[in-house]
Amino acid sequence: MDRRKLLQLGSLATAGVFMPLSSKALVLNKAVHTKTSEFDRIRLNANENPYGPSENVKKTIAESLMMSNRYPHIESIPKLKSEIAKLHGVTEDMILITAGSYQALKIIGTRLSNGTGNHVAPDLSFTVLMRQTERMGCTWKKIKTNDDKSINLQRMSDAIDSETQFVYITNPNNPTGHYISRDKIVDFCRSIPSQLPIIVDEAYIEFVKGDESESVVRLLQELPNLIITRTFSKIYGLAGLRIGYALAKPEWIEDWSTWDQGGQLGVSNLSANAAIAALQDHKFLKSSKVNIDKTRNQFSKELTDLGIKVYPSWTNFMLLESGSFQERLIPKLEHAKIDIGIGRSGVMTNLARVSVGTDQQMNQLLNLIKSVI
Ligand SMILES: Cc1ncc(COP(=O)(O)O)c(C=O)c1O
Repeated sequence: MDRRKLLQLGSLATAGVFMPLSSKALVLNKAVHTKTSEFDRIRLNANENPYGPSENVKKTIAESLMMSNRYPHIESIPKLKSEIAKLHGVTEDMILITAGSYQALKIIGTRLSNGTGNHVAPDLSFTVLMRQTERMGCTWKKIKTNDDKSINLQRMSDAIDSETQFVYITNPNNPTGHYISRDKIVDFCRSIPSQLPIIVDEAYIEFVKGDESESVVRLLQELPNLIITRTFSKIYGLAGLRIGYALAKPEWIEDWSTWDQGGQLGVSNLSANAAIAALQDHKFLKSSKVNIDKTRNQFSKELTDLGIKVYPSWTNFMLLESGSFQERLIPKLEHAKIDIGIGRSGVMTNLARVSVGTDQQMNQLLNLIKSVI
């Protein structure tokens, strides 16, 4: 396989659109990166926070090194659970701490699927959960998104049948960046039959208003079939520390914790303590949102002025129509060591997903795009 093809596959894998981060995809990515250190590359393909972690979190990480001889379940994980419980107004038995929300989604998929039937999720979606249940024999009913790439909630509801095992929705959505207002998603969750699990993946929810106000977390008390996944990888800037969580009714959390391969020890003191510090660092959260919004809006405007269609985004990435220039752009990206997510088949054909980096990184990308359109 030639180098160019490897680049495209690597980009798609990290876009989480066609392939989950399977070992196969990781090998491909590694092949792309072998020529240079990963840090030589400008990574605009994995929706990481270019500003994280915060100074306070770095200090906590350094202090936590001293606890490296201790297991995490005695102190750090219970403390993190207590902070998360306070943040969301839930009890601690409703929280499963995992190595990123990726792990939470995989456990949930394994436990909610019995290997038959279907799950209902948009065609443009984060795929980890569905790939897991597809592997187990379940079918993904791909619900066509609207022309503006928003999720069609009516079509989602209409697709539910007696064989449906769960409904999955990411809000804001990846890879589109689109956001469903809280009122609408609350109504949607309430309309789902009470015996049917509904998973709301809120990996990017803090980007909407910079706080918890848009989350559906308060609905957990009312809807026992609701599951929410969250992560510290995005606005908190801790993707490399692998820490996230699921919120759900205690019976599910208890069941999932027995299926958690680390047996509640899969998260280190370092990650748990970093997450606690991150939750308290409101200043960092705010500045990340301000910077990312500003850069995204600016980049999006520049592309629009060039005649490129950019879909509205409430996140740290954006989706754009790249079909007319992407073949010329790919070799330039490789030369400049810039990674973005380029779609070449299925629902992602002629679309690219670009994560928001620093102003300087976005300017570099902008100049490349200008040189090929
Ligand atoms: C919608 C969504 N959910 C979950 C994840 C998984 O993130 P992590 O495992 O780093 O928490 C991602 C990562 O990009 C994502 O986009």
